[in-house]
Amino acid sequence: IPVSPFDLVIFGATGDLARRKILPGLFHRFKVEQMPEDARIIGAARSEFDSAAFRKVVRESLEQFVGEADRPANTVEQFLERIDYVNVDAMGDKGWDALSDLLREDKVRAFYFSVTPSLFGTLAEQLHKRGIATPESRIVVEKPFGHDLETAKALNADLLKCFNEEQIYRIDHYLGKETVQNLMALRFANSLFEPLWNSTHIDHVQITVAESLGVEGRGEYYDNSGAMRDMVQNHLMQLLCLIAMEPPSRFEPNAVRDEKVKVIEALEPVAPDDIVRGQYYDWNNRVGYKDHAGNPESRTESFVAMKVAVANWRWAGTPFYLRTGKKLRTRMSEIAVIFRDPPHMIFPKMEGRRGNALVIRLQPDEGITLRTTIKEPGPGGMRLTEVAMDMTFDDALGEDLHAQDAYERLIMDVIRGDQTLFMRGDEVESAWAWADPLIENWKNSTQRPASYDSGGSGPEESMMLMHQDGRRWRSVGQ
Ligand code: BG6
Repeated sequence: IPVSPFDLVIFGATGDLARRKILPGLFHRFKVEQMPEDARIIGAARSEFDSAAFRKVVRESLEQFVGEADRPANTVEQFLERIDYVNVDAMGDKGWDALSDLLREDKVRAFYFSVTPSLFGTLAEQLHKRGIATPESRIVVEKPFGHDLETAKALNADLLKCFNEEQIYRIDHYLGKETVQNLMALRFANSLFEPLWNSTHIDHVQITVAESLGVEGRGEYYDNSGAMRDMVQNHLMQLLCLIAMEPPSRFEPNAVRDEKVKVIEALEPVAPDDIVRGQYYDWNNRVGYKDHAGNPESRTESFVAMKVAVANWRWAGTPFYLRTGKKLRTRMSEIAVIFRDPPHMIFPKMEGRRGNALVIRLQPDEGITLRTTIKEPGPGGMRLTEVAMDMTFDDALGEDLHAQDAYERLIMDVIRGDQTLFMRGDEVESAWAWADPLIENWKNSTQRPASYDSGGSGPEESMMLMHQDGRRWRSVGQ
């Protein structure tokens, strides 16, 4: 779908997210000639730069975050020509007229709020009251979208005073990941899986988002959030929705989002015994989460595992196990759908049999594996073994298809005016309504997070969460 010419204003253009993700993403779009001829990018921030100084920042971020082979010098120069800068004071009057003068009448206007969340409402109001945002303009709002239900509601209300829901693009970058979208293709473009996609055939689902990095450098933000707010309420919730939702009638923003909201609303409250929280600790170097967070008393979780029930007709009796954590053995995200055993086994019992599983690997080694039971080759009777039917997307499709980062895909969707991969206001609120009591219960308890080894697979208690149900987690890397 073609992208219309646009003016994209990035508030917070000198910040970490802009330098790390947004600008390199836009550069990549430009390089593959998917940015229209007269598209412009306008950095807006508090730093006293002019356009030349900002272009220098952009050049440096490309040098830092785009591989050398991927940024030919002349392409970089041409890209920089598309870039302007305005020194804007979000809270005051400075720079707004200059910004207004730079924007062109007949182009799509998009305003990316890559700033601290406390400024989201202020920016919306400024754009609105100064007439800079037209009725067709779009705003892009980064996470965190609220800190809890109350703040999310207040933020929605602030934004809706100035913009319609159709103009608001709430980012969850997991929805921009190639393989996350592939979940929908896998389920709804194939006839093979959907008939089995229910509690009659599926024993349980495991959703794992493991990270190897810790919280070094962003301890202050993180310690105020923890894995529940930072990952579960948004990213893991989105994965759960895509796996559990009913087929939407159309691949159209509201049809898809209606189905996702229904999943969130069907979630049962999670019993305290069904949640495990952990904090990493590196015994060799005697340093751990609390040191990185700068808070020796911290009870904030850098790991969480839980058992979740989707209380509806399709899923009654099939638990969803979710886990995510920092400083685990490896960076690995996957969804494993574990099928029930055949109702009657005619072959000799197989030691260690794990049964059929469909594993969707989200990152880094994107692909799909179907674990199947076959006969062990050779004489010796009908002995069974398990093998993986493995498809790695890179091999199957060619690497180029994966070069696109989530952010660049999502930004282009904003310009196209496609909200399918963005969260609707009620969706975010429902997710907070579910997460809030779990966070509150924890806050009111005196329990401490379980300690787990940096570079391991999470606390022992998380293994127990599975064992007590006669199940086990898949391993987090080798
Ligand atoms: C962010 C979280 O939203 O997602 C980070 O704030 C986390 O804590 C990151 O590391 C994970 O994203 P990705 O794309 O690296 O899996």
